[in-house]
Amino acid sequence: MNTTAPVPIPTAQRPLLQLQKLDSYYGAVQVHFDLNLQLHPGEIVCLLGGNASGKSTTMKVILGLLKPRQGTVTLDGVNVTGWPTPRIIRQGIASVPESRRIFAQMTVQENLLMGAYQRSGWATFWHPATDAIHTDYERILALFPRLKDRLHARGGSLSGGEQQMLAFGRALMSRPRLIVMDEPTMGLSPLFVDRVLETIQTINRQGITVLMVEQNANLALQIAHRGYVLQNGRIVLEGNAAELLHSPEIQDAYLGQANF
Ligand SMILES: Nc1ncnc2c1ncn2[C@@H]1O[C@H](COP(=O)(O)OP(=O)(O)OP(=O)(O)O)[C@@H](O)[C@H]1O
Ligand SMILES: [Mg+2]
Repeated sequence: MNTTAPVPIPTAQRPLLQLQKLDSYYGAVQVHFDLNLQLHPGEIVCLLGGNASGKSTTMKVILGLLKPRQGTVTLDGVNVTGWPTPRIIRQGIASVPESRRIFAQMTVQENLLMGAYQRSGWATFWHPATDAIHTDYERILALFPRLKDRLHARGGSLSGGEQQMLAFGRALMSRPRLIVMDEPTMGLSPLFVDRVLETIQTINRQGITVLMVEQNANLALQIAHRGYVLQNGRIVLEGNAAELLHSPEIQDAYLGQANF
């Protein structure tokens, strides 16, 4: 008998994503030190921290783009540490990477459809009334009317804010349970920032769990349920969004007296 078999956790209490005791390296350089983080189904969680604190590397580890030297990544109770990225994505994760990474030479429509490339059921795509992918496609265009207006434009010709929406829409096309976003508001005008934050809340209300990497704590904590603060690869603070927003450490950072 295998005495180390894990005790099943009741689904309601089981985190959707759990990072435990992660140590990650690029070659000889250690980036994460004993990092622990968890997301429960239905949450918006933000991962805050200054430049080079290890935020994007956390996303890489979750997506299987970088294998941690120590520790585990668990998705809905399944240990996915070391799995190849496509297999992890098939578990229901979608990502909106740093600086969008849309396909510049492809049209808006093609970019969106690429988001669903791993889904089955393409044969009925042009029978919209019955097709799940087509239904999602229409729903996403309703969420981002600007994309609908520019369906046949090349991705590369869109503004920064429109490209962010396209990257977001493409991620939603895979019908994820969890979406991980790297600095989704970076470089956007205030109008687009509001639009992106509202959209994150909208999709979250529809049942999608969100991990949002952000440097701008003030923005992220407005919509997140909880947050973690990374400093030099270590979690130095965690809590409910309201608590974090009023914490002296975050306030100090805003006044420029401290740096994450
Ligand atoms: N491919 C890589 N090879 C070697 N070192 C890397 C690589 N990517 C990142 N690093 C280093 O790892 C550390 C953490 O980088 P990471 O990109 O995770 O930070 P970040 O918190 O996302 O920063 P930013 O806010 O600037 O995006 C940095 O010191 C960075 O220089
Ligand atoms: Mg980064």
